[in-house]
Amino acid sequence: MSILRADLPLAVLAELTHRCPLQCPYCSNPQQLLSARDELSTADWKRVIDQAAELGALQIHFSGGEPMMRRDLDELVGHAHAAGLYSNLITSGVRSGRDRLTALAQSGLDHVQLSFQDTDVQSAERIGNYSGAQDKKIAFAEEVCAAGLPLTINAVVHRQNLARLGEMIELALALGAARLEIAHVQYYGWALRNRGALMPTRAQVEAATRTVDAARRRLNRRLVIDYVVPDYFARRPKACMGGWGRRFMNITPSGNVLPCHAAETLPGITFDSVMDRPLADIWRSSVAFEKYRGTAWMPEPCRSCDRREIDWGGCRCQALAITGRADDADPACELSSNHQMITTLAEAESAETSDAFSYRRYHRPTA
Ligand code: SF4
Ligand code: FES
Repeated sequence: MSILRADLPLAVLAELTHRCPLQCPYCSNPQQLLSARDELSTADWKRVIDQAAELGALQIHFSGGEPMMRRDLDELVGHAHAAGLYSNLITSGVRSGRDRLTALAQSGLDHVQLSFQDTDVQSAERIGNYSGAQDKKIAFAEEVCAAGLPLTINAVVHRQNLARLGEMIELALALGAARLEIAHVQYYGWALRNRGALMPTRAQVEAATRTVDAARRRLNRRLVIDYVVPDYFARRPKACMGGWGRRFMNITPSGNVLPCHAAETLPGITFDSVMDRPLADIWRSSVAFEKYRGTAWMPEPCRSCDRREIDWGGCRCQALAITGRADDADPACELSSNHQMITTLAEAESAETSDAFSYRRYHRPTA
């Protein structure tokens, strides 16, 4: 398939490390986490940054795990700045300090996204399994604003914190954020393992939508709120990652290049590494990026649907997780013959009585 200028990647998500002080039970990292010795070196990441800029990417998101666990983060941010990329730091905010943030700002960091687990301190620190996190996050947010950097608050919401969504909006305002991203948990990896403890009820989702609508009207121009109805309660799927291989590249700590963070769950696909091929080659012609790019791969009902170039058939990883087949239409879609599966799952799992988490942890591979 030929790649049009418009189909060049908008952004690269650089997962610098899987190391993280927090253990959120909905983490988007794979269940088999990579250790520090598997991570790309500083020189390798710099080469990847140059290749991303040459390819035409405009932004780089430094993520993880916790990207602050990398001592070379300032150097990588500076390199991205010199290459002309807009840089965004996605962080838990618990591994910083004023000096570190000042160094990042001086290196050319453009934006910070800070995650909050809840507004209730006890609940927040239980969700992340990290005592003392909330005070550190609040102090970090103040430092971000003092450094003159724009701040976005990320709030991942689920059954155990949705009751405080209104308070989360107030917290974002109080911290001086310009934007609040309210993201319902997406059920891949660790979140799939914890689905019964996280799935909201339909009543919670409807109340959340009303809260967001009212806040948007009230806070127009003071706080931008991004919010999408969760897939398990939706009638049409979202365009996952803006469409497979259309806007984003996700680079794992060891250098594998993925169309989405969960792509390695898809069976039978080999993902190329930046250690073996230039990024542009991988983007343009790798088997993995070509696999679900465009519309030619689509089955019915997507193939003849007038939304096929709007949502690109939804999410492959979700189709796999629910139906067992990555090539199916996303069951979040009402037109899918599997839609009832997702609706039934949502009802059953939201009625789960156990709130216990299986925390994100390193574990030995099973033989
Ligand atoms: Fe999207 Fe396919 Fe559903 Fe159409 S049938 S709305 S393309 S998922
Ligand atoms: Fe992989 Fe949606 S998360 S395609």
